[in-house]
Amino acid sequence: MSEKRIIRIGLLGFGVVGQGVWKNIERNRSALEYRLGAQLKIEHIVVRDQSKVRGVAVGDIVYSEDPACVVDNPDIDIVCELMGGTGKALELTRRALEQGKIVVTANKALICEHGEELFATARRTGAHYFYEASVAGGIPIIKTIREALVANRFKLIFGILNGTSNYILTRMEREGLSFAETLVDARKLGYVEADEALDLDGIDAAHKAVILAYLAHGKWVRLQDIICEGIRDITGEDIEIAGQLGFKMKLLAVIARDFEANKLSVRLHPALISKKEVIAGVDEVYNGVSVTGDVVGTTILIGRGAGQDATSSSVISDIADAVFMLQGAPNPVISEEDEAVYKELADGLELAHKEMLRGRYYLRIHVKDQQGVLARISDIMSKEHISFATVNQKELEDGTAKLMVTTHESDEASIERAKAVLLLEDSVIGAPVSFRIFDPAKA
Ligand code: NAP
Ligand code: HSE
Repeated sequence: MSEKRIIRIGLLGFGVVGQGVWKNIERNRSALEYRLGAQLKIEHIVVRDQSKVRGVAVGDIVYSEDPACVVDNPDIDIVCELMGGTGKALELTRRALEQGKIVVTANKALICEHGEELFATARRTGAHYFYEASVAGGIPIIKTIREALVANRFKLIFGILNGTSNYILTRMEREGLSFAETLVDARKLGYVEADEALDLDGIDAAHKAVILAYLAHGKWVRLQDIICEGIRDITGEDIEIAGQLGFKMKLLAVIARDFEANKLSVRLHPALISKKEVIAGVDEVYNGVSVTGDVVGTTILIGRGAGQDATSSSVISDIADAVFMLQGAPNPVISEEDEAVYKELADGLELAHKEMLRGRYYLRIHVKDQQGVLARISDIMSKEHISFATVNQKELEDGTAKLMVTTHESDEASIERAKAVLLLEDSVIGAPVSFRIFDPAKA
């Protein structure tokens, strides 16, 4: 019997995901090694504080606080960057790629902010940068777009890319809880990132949307150039009224390409979406991505978007690809020239102006419950050519009322102008809140 090659792996980071990679390689070692035709050996584990008590026992492997034992070690075949952040992780990823190494990552923030540079470095040095776990946890969305759906041009990719915010919205909807109450539970369950803004303000999902936009269209979009809005403004009554109107409230990433106008819209925001859409039924911490290609039509993937096991499943799948490559499986080598050709496909591709967005809207306006208020609001809206499709009113005990309206098709600029005028109106209390109504058929 021939000896299997030993593939040596170094882990940078041994937190939630790092420990999951360890645990799941151990759990399925024999099947995995049979499928890969190689032995896997985690050789070094680098952490910030080696004295910390860990959730798994790693035998005789010693922890180190010195990343050089992985990054600069010629015996390490695969470097897994599972530290997170864009500081030390950037420095170490750069260093490994400069040396032509294989790097596997789950770090969406790093790819979103520095992907262009890191992929260019990998091409220049012959290194490889794998990132399946960076988008939608355990859902194999990167490979699906890059490999399985390679025959397609992608008119629309949309979906739920943040598990924590989806969990919060689901509990608010099902149990009538407030955002604040649900957030407490999400924190207790360990769902919310240490930097809560990543989950609650949409930044984490926007990072993932930027990665998918690059993968599908070859264009790196800057986070600051896209709509990125989180879930903090959503109230129980918004969810309730949306439900009565046949919608669910979801935090959606949308990557829509108009091939004729050569425009790309990348955005991340809460939206009302018809309950009839499959993505509307993706609840709790699950993620769901709908991909519409011009050849295949629409394909929808649903699965666990976060957590130790789901995320480590994707990391191990990248490790497997790296192992096949190390064993001589053909791997397309993308040269600078190839990349230039690919970039030409995105040449002249412009980011669509936010103000040009069209669609239906939901607005919540808090008003003094006086005669003629609705007429005045309607007047302000009609000056912007916005007409109401539905109107709901909720009277409050303090003599005020909340108006929840949906509009017929309008555009973003008109809605924003109307909101600015409403803000100055005597009978309006506080700033009106609006959410987009997302219809995939019109995206
Ligand atoms: P985590 O639990 O906070 O673990 C981070 C690990 O990195 C810890 O072991 C930490 O060491 C180590 N580390 C951090 N900074 C370091 C430094 N400067 N030098 C050496 N070691 C350092 O994070 P995680 O949840 O596993 O996430 C890891 C990556 O996966 C992140 O990019 C995250 O965005 C991504 N991701 C996570 C999930 C998820 O569900 N958790 C899902 C998808 C993607 P100590 O243990 O000593 O502190
Ligand atoms: N905070 C992220 C989420 C982790 O809730 O989806 C997975 O990327």
